[in-house]
Amino acid sequence: MAVLEIVTPKSANAGILRNPTRRVRTFDAALHTLLDDMILTMRDANGAGLAAPQIGLDQRISVIEWPEDPDNPEETMRRYEVINPEIIKAKGAEEGQEGCLSLPGLAADVVRATFLLVKFQDRHGAEVRLKAYDWLARIFQHEIDHLNGVLMTDRAEALYRIVENEQGEVELIPLERVAA
Ligand code: CO
Repeated sequence: MAVLEIVTPKSANAGILRNPTRRVRTFDAALHTLLDDMILTMRDANGAGLAAPQIGLDQRISVIEWPEDPDNPEETMRRYEVINPEIIKAKGAEEGQEGCLSLPGLAADVVRATFLLVKFQDRHGAEVRLKAYDWLARIFQHEIDHLNGVLMTDRAEALYRIVENEQGEVELIPLERVAA
């Protein structure tokens, strides 16, 4: 298993973040290794989700890790291996603050649906149907966006630069002020 390099706007292959992705048709050992490496990479970067374009691949693959009960993450952590996902139903709208492993140092306020019915395939090609609510629904939408070349900055109501002040506290600075 290997921790993979995460593509950012500074990467030589940054364009892949904007490319559409291809459906996965072969569910073989190479795919399993890739999924294992993506999970390791996501954990290593303290992320809740990672999509294949973020490691330089134009395939419809994402991994997500999020607890069923956010108050009890250790015992309710769930892992989703999301291949060829499709949103069947989306309801509700709520603004929340997101980050992205490909956009380090940025936070974005994004309105997302609060409920999703999503269909995808697991690592063996079996179809999975899942109802996702709130933050899990948000993560699925963020990751599926990646598979369509869409970044959180495209949907942001507001963007912030994450900085640490002299006291070592994290501060969010609205992006217009960073440029000034
Ligand atoms: Co992202």
